[in-house]
Amino acid sequence: MNFKSIVDLNLKDKRVFIRADLNVPIDEFGLITDDSRIVASLQTIKHSIQQGALVMVTSHLGRPKEGFLNGDYSLETVGKRLSQLLNKRVSLITNWVDKPFEVRRNEVFLLENCRCNIGEKNNSDILVNKMAKLCDVYVNDAFGTAHRAEATTYGLALKAKEACAGFLMTTELHGLNKIYENPKKPVVAIVGGSKISTKLELLNSLLKKVDFLIVGGGIANTFLKAQGFEIGKSIVENNLLQVAIDLIEMSTVGNGKICVPIDVVVANSAKKGKKAREVNVKEVSKEEMILDIGIKSSKIFEDLILRANTIIWNGPVGLFEVKDFSVGTRNLALAVGNSSGFSAVGGGDTVSAVNKFGVSDNIDYISTGGGAFLEFLQGMELPAITSLTKNGEL
Ligand code: 3PG
Repeated sequence: MNFKSIVDLNLKDKRVFIRADLNVPIDEFGLITDDSRIVASLQTIKHSIQQGALVMVTSHLGRPKEGFLNGDYSLETVGKRLSQLLNKRVSLITNWVDKPFEVRRNEVFLLENCRCNIGEKNNSDILVNKMAKLCDVYVNDAFGTAHRAEATTYGLALKAKEACAGFLMTTELHGLNKIYENPKKPVVAIVGGSKISTKLELLNSLLKKVDFLIVGGGIANTFLKAQGFEIGKSIVENNLLQVAIDLIEMSTVGNGKICVPIDVVVANSAKKGKKAREVNVKEVSKEEMILDIGIKSSKIFEDLILRANTIIWNGPVGLFEVKDFSVGTRNLALAVGNSSGFSAVGGGDTVSAVNKFGVSDNIDYISTGGGAFLEFLQGMELPAITSLTKNGEL
């Protein structure tokens, strides 16, 4: 790719500004429930310290209103975890754009939630110019926000004296290119989750790339209804039935084959213990809702996965958080874990599922991105990557 990597630059004595994605889930007790994004950012931070740089790190956390910082959006908890993981002092700096601060070697200066700065979202020139003065080298390691053209993800990469991608960013792009540019066939994609509308571009784009496109979750319900099956009270997008038919037609003319479940797990309610039963897709009653794929479908899909050389997965195929409806997603997770093909998983729910079913160590590439992962697979340009390639052109 046509941009510099952190290993190409001399960082010694340079003021290095790392844009990371430390947007981690924090529960009502203020505890981080999944620190994988912090862990994934460590390599770039450690490397910068080891190279003798003066290290600043910033990230967004949630979507705060610009110009305000309240406790819920502070990076304080993130900073404490980062300090434990690095075994180094991490100083949290507030008001870092307008108030001068000194950066010391062998420490990390964590710059408060960059989305609290006025102008971040709209990539304001005023903000970008102020931030550019703070650093000699800009490092983008925030793959999770690579689809956002904000001041710290886009404008600063254009304006900084030198700009490069960090280790996490490079690893993500390498993994994505492997599954998207020249994947080893046969390629199987699994797309689940509740809505076709949020994944329509993804389905279109994947159909042209893959040999088999397995659909599950609410997305499969819309396909089933479009094919004339009763789906009872299941989640469905009635306005997209024709779109589903068009996709099925597209799949018969030289594109990947869409694989819809042939049996499903249904219940009268999504709540635990509400008498789940497994039925052929022809036997769903008006009072029931589809909450998982059935065992026969799962076997067919597992076979496809085990024979694939490349597997791409986004979205669970059932309500896997509830035990009664978790078997389909668990079986597919185990098959992806056991497959000898190159496997890539992205999206918060899917990553939670592979963690829950204990197969994450057997997945070749787990993306830290949700929206960014999807946009890349939809063939969209990621602004953060574009700006890295254009650094210095302004
Ligand atoms: C994510 O959680 O997907 C990234 O951190 C991006 O967050 P955003 O959707 O608020 O930009």
